[in-house]
Formats: sequence, structure tokens, C-alpha cells
Amino acid sequence: MTKVTVVGAGNVGATCADVLAYREIAEEIVLVDIKEGVAEGKALDIWQKAPINAYDSRTVGSTNDYSKTANSDVVVITSGLPRKPGMTRDDLIETNAGIVKSVTENVVKHSPNAIIIIVSNPLDVMTYQAHITSKLPRTKVIGMAGILDTARYRAFLAEALDVSPKEIQAILMGGHGDTMVPLPRYTTVAGIPVTELIDADKLNEIIERTKFGGGELVKLMGTSAWYAPGAAAAQMVEAILKNQRRVFPVCIKLDGEYGIDDCYLGVPVILGRNGVEKVIELHLNEDEKALLETSRTHVKEVMTVLDNIAAK
Ligand SMILES: NC(=O)c1ccc[n+]([C@@H]2O[C@H](COP(=O)([O-])OP(=O)(O)OC[C@H]3O[C@@H](n4cnc5c(N)ncnc54)[C@H](O)[C@@H]3O)[C@@H](O)[C@H]2O)c1
Repeated sequence: MTKVTVVGAGNVGATCADVLAYREIAEEIVLVDIKEGVAEGKALDIWQKAPINAYDSRTVGSTNDYSKTANSDVVVITSGLPRKPGMTRDDLIETNAGIVKSVTENVVKHSPNAIIIIVSNPLDVMTYQAHITSKLPRTKVIGMAGILDTARYRAFLAEALDVSPKEIQAILMGGHGDTMVPLPRYTTVAGIPVTELIDADKLNEIIERTKFGGGELVKLMGTSAWYAPGAAAAQMVEAILKNQRRVFPVCIKLDGEYGIDDCYLGVPVILGRNGVEKVIELHLNEDEKALLETSRTHVKEVMTVLDNIAAK
């Protein structure tokens, strides 16, 4: 039986659980939250949708009882505060680090073989927190941001070119924030280099909009996005459970790839049953390398903030 736990039954977690259920990605989905009754209620609501949308996946809720999560194949951690207007993702670090640490301890105790996907922000540094807490191999503790950032970029391009979003293939790298590294050189429309179809100014405008794509939604809604983030996390779960070996940008600790050590950054990987099966190393040009270095410096600074919190 395939079993997935989603911790945090808020906007992103509940959306992820819903996608996992209606697309029958896992046979059992356990939703956990610290707020009394919320996870149970949302799991029941998703289950009551099963006869309407015609799916078999079971959804179960739990208020902080991790025994129900035992032997999960994959655990998605979405617990933590989202941004409010005017906040950066990094402003969330102190509160969310404590939450991610305690949740990871509980997760590993009951599912020592699970692959853990982090969604909580600041994403790259929360992946660091979960990785050191879990003591699992780096290939099994990974962060979701790149699929979302790439999806935003692809959606904006599809709109500008008036083509189906399905036709846009793209990859982004770097940290989940304003220093993310879009790679127009690796962007195609059904195999056609995007630069042949769009002028440079418009492409740059789309890249800039993508970098601040999360903030655009926070400003509109007063909190951060959930439909695309929840679906993106579910897509990673699917690639793992079905051993699809899909190529996605995923946050992982770099161990020398791209000449970077000991930093958690988004890079293209092959995602399969063992988590990250391979980190793909692109041949970046000098400009792209410089952008990646800026991203690395920023993530490292926030990692140091976490180290100082932990030292307190
Ligand atoms: N990586 C990404 O691309 C991405 C995208 C969107 C949101 N996020 C992040 O995901 C997180 C969740 O966002 P959201 O919109 O779902 O927020 P939300 O407030 O709707 O939900 C968070 C949930 O976590 C729960 N929670 C808090 N502490 C907990 C604990 N110790 N154990 C279990 N549950 C706990 C809360 O009760 C709440 O229900 C935020 O940190 C947000 O910034 C990341």
C-alpha cells in the first residue's frame, strides 16, 4: 500500500492532500495539523468528495498524533507560517525553523524510511533544517520550490505567446526567492528555443515577474499561494511513488555539484523511487554562473541565521 503524510492542513497542505487523493497518487493520505480537529475535518471533507469525483484514495486526519503516520512512503511538510504583505520569506525563519524541527523529529520516529519533501518557507533553509534533524541522506530530504517557480514562468510565457502552457518546457535554478535563476537558454516552446518567439524585453519582463511571482499573490490575497504550490508538491510525490524519473528543479544539499558545497539550492534532478536519483549538472555560461553565485551567497546568509538561532 502506498501511504503519504502531509503535515500542515492549511492552504497548501490541504490542497496537496486533495490533489493526491483525487488523482489517486497514493492509496492512503494522512493529514496532520496542530490545530484541534482541522486535519480530521479537511480529511473527511476530501473523503466525502470521493463519490463525486470518483476516486478510491483514503484520507485520514490527525491532530498531532504521529502514530497514524507510521510507515509513510513520502511525507510532505507544509506546517509553518505563510507570508503576509510586506514580509520576505526569510522573515519566517525563527518560527518556522522550530516547527520544521519538531515535525521532522516526529516524522522520522514513525517513518524512518520516508522521503521528506519540504514546502515551508524560507524553503532552502527549511530543507537544511529538516535534513540535519532527520539525519537522512541528502537525496531523501528535498524541497519544493522549483516546480512552482518554473510553473509561474511557464504560465506567463504561455499567456504572452498565446499557446498552451503544456508546450512550454523550462528549468530554473537557485534559491526560492528573488535570487532565483531563470534560464531562458533552456526554455523551449515544443522544442523551439523561446528566444525565437519572443523579444528580449518581453522575456526579461516575464523573468522579473517570475522572481516576484510569490509576492504578487501575497499582495493580492494577504497570504501566500496554495493551488499551484499544493499541486507542485503532489507532482513530486507522484514522481517518487511511481518511480517516474521525471526531471524537475528540486532543492537539495549540493555536495560539489556546480562547484558548490554545503549549500541547499534548487537544481535540476531526476526524481524517482529513491528520491533524488541524480543531480543534473548543466554547463552554465559565465552570466548564469554569476547569478547562481548570488543565489548561493544569499541562501548561505540565511543558513547562518539558522545556525545562530540553533546556537541560542
Ligand atoms: N515552497 C514553496 O514554494 C511555498 C509556496 C507556498 C507556501 N509555502 C510555505 O508553506 C507554508 C504553509 O503555507 P500555507 O499557506 O499552507 O499556510 P497556512 O497557515 O494556511 O497553513 C499552515 C498550517 O500549519 C499548521 N501548523 C503550524 N505549526 C504546526 C505544527 N507544529 N505541526 C503541525 N501543523 C502545524 C497550522 O496550524 C496551519 O494549519 C508556509 O511556510 C508558506 O510560506 C511555500
